[in-house]
Amino acid sequence: MSSRSFLLDDALWGYVVDHSVKVDAVVARLTERTIALGGVAEMQIGPDQQAFLTMLTRFAGVTNAVEVGTFTGTSALCLARGLAPGGHLLCCDISEEWTAIASEAWAEAGVDHLIELCIAPALETLQALPTDPVIDLAFIDADKPGYASYYEELIPRLRPGGWVVADNTLWSGRITDAGAGDENTKALRAYNAHAAADDRVTTVLLAVADGLTISQKR
Ligand SMILES: C[S@@+](CC[C@H](N)C(=O)[O-])C[C@H]1O[C@@H](n2cnc3c(N)ncnc32)[C@H](O)[C@@H]1O
Repeated sequence: MSSRSFLLDDALWGYVVDHSVKVDAVVARLTERTIALGGVAEMQIGPDQQAFLTMLTRFAGVTNAVEVGTFTGTSALCLARGLAPGGHLLCCDISEEWTAIASEAWAEAGVDHLIELCIAPALETLQALPTDPVIDLAFIDADKPGYASYYEELIPRLRPGGWVVADNTLWSGRITDAGAGDENTKALRAYNAHAAADDRVTTVLLAVADGLTISQKR
């Protein structure tokens, strides 16, 4: 099974999964293929977050979405499934190898026509986007030191009421561990502090999965 929240023991995790939308055959196969890659599989979002991303995208009426950090495509598949009719998802990643698996899964799920994949450093991709505020929702799940820069490129391009969702913002609890001073932990602390203090947005840090910092543009 892919990543589960560090906040839950086995019993609670099983209960959460048993009482949420069931993982379908496409995602189950994609999860198996991702696990076969080895330790990197822990980057894949888990079933609770999969269901939540689809629900949030649907709830927010998202037509125009951006994902920063695609890996083998699970979160993109979940975002695409929640898009409004005529919707579009731009996916940013630097790995041809991992996103090749993603593209196969998207085709199998019948959402490939909704997704545009851009293989390049995400900051370059975002900086090249038009500056009009047309993005409804952005999901950030790439290199942690890049989060703040991605956010700063995304906020002006977000429509009023649009959302930036940043993953792993509790960082398996290291976020409050005074002994953790590595680059990733420091970057995530800085990101959370910035999003919470930024008066362009309203921010909620949800204790879902590994932590989701959700910022809604005013
Ligand atoms: C945590 S994984 C994403 C997991 C994915 N959201 C999922 O649901 O399975 C992080 C991804 O960010 C990508 N990445 C790392 N640095 C990047 C950068 N500078 N620009 C774009 N993508 C990057 C990696 O190649 C990797 O696929």
